[in-house]
Amino acid sequence: MGNTKEASAVRMSRIKRKEEATVPAPVLEVRDLDVSRSGDIVVKGATFTINEGDFVGIVGPNGGGKTTLLHAILGILPSKGRIRLFGEGINRFRRWERVAYVSQHAINFDPQFPLSVRELVGLGRVRRGNLGRPLRKEDWSAVDDALGAMDLTELAYRRIGNLSGGEKQRVFVAKALVRDPDLMILDEPVAGVDATTMERFYQRISDLNQERGITVLIVSHDLTAVFCRMSKVMCVNHDVHYANITPDLDHNELLRKGYGEHFHFVFHEHSCEGVFPRP
Ligand SMILES: Nc1ncnc2c1ncn2[C@@H]1O[C@H](COP(=O)(O)OP(=O)(O)OP(=O)(O)O)[C@@H](O)[C@H]1O
Ligand SMILES: [Mg+2]
Repeated sequence: MGNTKEASAVRMSRIKRKEEATVPAPVLEVRDLDVSRSGDIVVKGATFTINEGDFVGIVGPNGGGKTTLLHAILGILPSKGRIRLFGEGINRFRRWERVAYVSQHAINFDPQFPLSVRELVGLGRVRRGNLGRPLRKEDWSAVDDALGAMDLTELAYRRIGNLSGGEKQRVFVAKALVRDPDLMILDEPVAGVDATTMERFYQRISDLNQERGITVLIVSHDLTAVFCRMSKVMCVNHDVHYANITPDLDHNELLRKGYGEHFHFVFHEHSCEGVFPRP
């Protein structure tokens, strides 16, 4: 009897573990969120949950509130409503090293800035606990790993100001990645980048999502990239509409909620042929 009970307890705990393994944990929970800028509500009533391993494309017209929403999630802008990061209310959340962010304006800095690519990426390893001490061997090894992941090894010793816009953007993503985050938030990281570079970039981000299990939120105006490569889409134009990207998703029904009634996006699964498959 005792044994049966024990066996049953073991079975139950295994089932529980399996369930825990298959049900991804929420990384970001947002409920009834309003965010204002200069007194005007820019994002209103946003409610959505992002789970571990999601690869989320954030789309929507200019001025729709994408950056504003991200800033609220990062605690940079005050907001009304509820935001939970890794299960903790944003006001109590302290483990910001789990979250990496690349701003839409990251690459706009003084081109004379006297740092090499490797040194700049190394700054990503600076945390509250190690401020002021030199980086250690393991830090530099993480830097080299991040440079490799972003195809930047050959540019490691180039001065940051001498790189092209697309190369600089990859450097800032590497600087975010070197923190070994669980959640990466990228605001238009490939704006103005050529098609081949963009393709390689999305491939790299998809690898990070698939192989390292990093949850990714990425703002993009490239709707084909979002629908071909990502697992979820969030359309932001003051309201926020969120959907799983599945073969039966009505793309236009969702997009019209953000871009307006007359918006029409031609998309067929075969638009994705030749690009790497969706996770
Ligand atoms: N610093 C600011 N002060 C006041 N209003 C702002 C500020 N930044 C943005 N806004 C306003 O908030 C609204 C949303 O801007 P936001 O930058 O969030 O849009 P977005 O969706 O990221 O646009 P884009 O695609 O152009 O990056 C816009 O009306 C914008 O003018
Ligand atoms: Mg923006």
